[in-house]
Amino acid sequence: RASGQSRTRAGLGARRGLRPSARVLRALPDRSPVSRRGQVQGEFSKQLSQFWYSQETALQLAKEAITAAGEGGRIACVSAPSVYQKLRELHREDFSVYIFEYDKRFAIYGEEFIFYDYNNPLDLPEKIAAHSFDIVIADPPYLSEECLRKTSETIKYLTQGKILLCTGAVMQEEAAKLLGVKMCKFIPEHTRTLANEFRCYVNYDSGLDHDI
Ligand SMILES: C[S@@+](CC[C@H](N)C(=O)[O-])C[C@H]1O[C@@H](n2cnc3c(N)ncnc32)[C@H](O)[C@@H]1O
Repeated sequence: RASGQSRTRAGLGARRGLRPSARVLRALPDRSPVSRRGQVQGEFSKQLSQFWYSQETALQLAKEAITAAGEGGRIACVSAPSVYQKLRELHREDFSVYIFEYDKRFAIYGEEFIFYDYNNPLDLPEKIAAHSFDIVIADPPYLSEECLRKTSETIKYLTQGKILLCTGAVMQEEAAKLLGVKMCKFIPEHTRTLANEFRCYVNYDSGLDHDI
């Protein structure tokens, strides 16, 4: 699973905090979820339940993750590729970040890409140690108890404590039960209108409740 990653990374010539190289971006398939500027774009797969945050929301969530992770912190983006993208764009060396994603097109990010299927929530590479992330930000693909329960297993395995969950307002009760998170005032926005009201949830004192 993780085996082809170092080859991809070499192809990227990517250091953390940089966009993929021009050569890699030119080679991307037409329907790549990453634009030629290295950003998650409008292309999406309905089967994979892909819908992307607006640039403003992705930035706000990325900044929140950095603040919550603290100096030298480790951030896990679980099924939230546009937050991962924003974190890379910020070009900062004082945190590290991994992208846990099912869509293998994001494997262009090399060693920071971890293939992840919520159906096998603890099927992760050995290099991903338990409780090794200061904060986990997750946006599970489906609004179902099963999907949230399984994703919660991953979140609890990865985090040292802090959790930032983005999901439908209808999941509020389940989210509180499974992860002890509470709904924030901040309202995330997407590049297209969603059928369901969407919210963020945290289990710590978060800027998403203050700086509105
Ligand atoms: C609701 S979208 C969240 C994206 C987020 N709003 C963003 O802009 O980054 C769900 C994400 O889950 C991923 N996904 C789809 N199927 C999955 C699976 N079986 N396991 C884990 N993630 C999956 C999708 O590729 C997508 O990135």
